[in-house]
Amino acid sequence: MNRVTVIAHPVVQHHLTVLRNHRTGPEEFRRGLAQAAALMVYEATRTLPTRARPVVTPLEKTRGVKLASEVLLVPILRAGLGMLDGILRLIPEARVGFIGLKRSEKTLQASAYHKSLPEELGSFEILLLDPMLATGGSVVAALDLLAARGARRVRLRLVSLVAAPEGIARVHKRYPDLTIFTASIDRRLNRKGYILPGLGDAGDRLFGV
Ligand code: PRP
Ligand code: URA
Repeated sequence: MNRVTVIAHPVVQHHLTVLRNHRTGPEEFRRGLAQAAALMVYEATRTLPTRARPVVTPLEKTRGVKLASEVLLVPILRAGLGMLDGILRLIPEARVGFIGLKRSEKTLQASAYHKSLPEELGSFEILLLDPMLATGGSVVAALDLLAARGARRVRLRLVSLVAAPEGIARVHKRYPDLTIFTASIDRRLNRKGYILPGLGDAGDRLFGV
């Protein structure tokens, strides 16, 4: 099973390059991340199950489909917020939950400060959104919260613009069957836990602080 899909689409790679550029300011960064996220989710939702739904056109009845389950988008605050609007344009009927996590600069441990999710997650197809998968601590903490609410592992997908090999390994150690969609598997982490070459601190670049 291929658990990591690298989205090599030229438009995604174009946006990624703009986002990596240290000269790109918050406005352009927001726009680029929203557009890249939407294109990535187009790929990440390719295998969503559907159900038959007949439809009557102005001329006749024909076959159609609808998504078999509700989609829940879960951005990890703050930086995951930068992916949300672009994706909602693609799936406007999706529901949205939030998980707030902050990584300590010293220990690199992620701690949760906010959670707003449906009580029971078993029926949802869930897309976890975070542009950066570095040590993997934040994503593992988020997945633990989702699992505690009954999220089904086979119905979870992670969408991360840039992923470090260390983060992928950590996430897959705990959640072996999680499908990860990324635009790039970068080289490695530096001593401070930043992805190389990466794009810097995604939250700071999005929000300017
Ligand atoms: C950043 C990023 C990820 C996390 C990745 O968030 O947005 O959530 O770091 O690092 P990890 O894989 O090592 O856990 P940060 O904690 O800086 O919070 P912010 O988005 O509010 O800036
Ligand atoms: N978080 C970020 O925003 N960037 C990194 O490179 C690592 C963690």
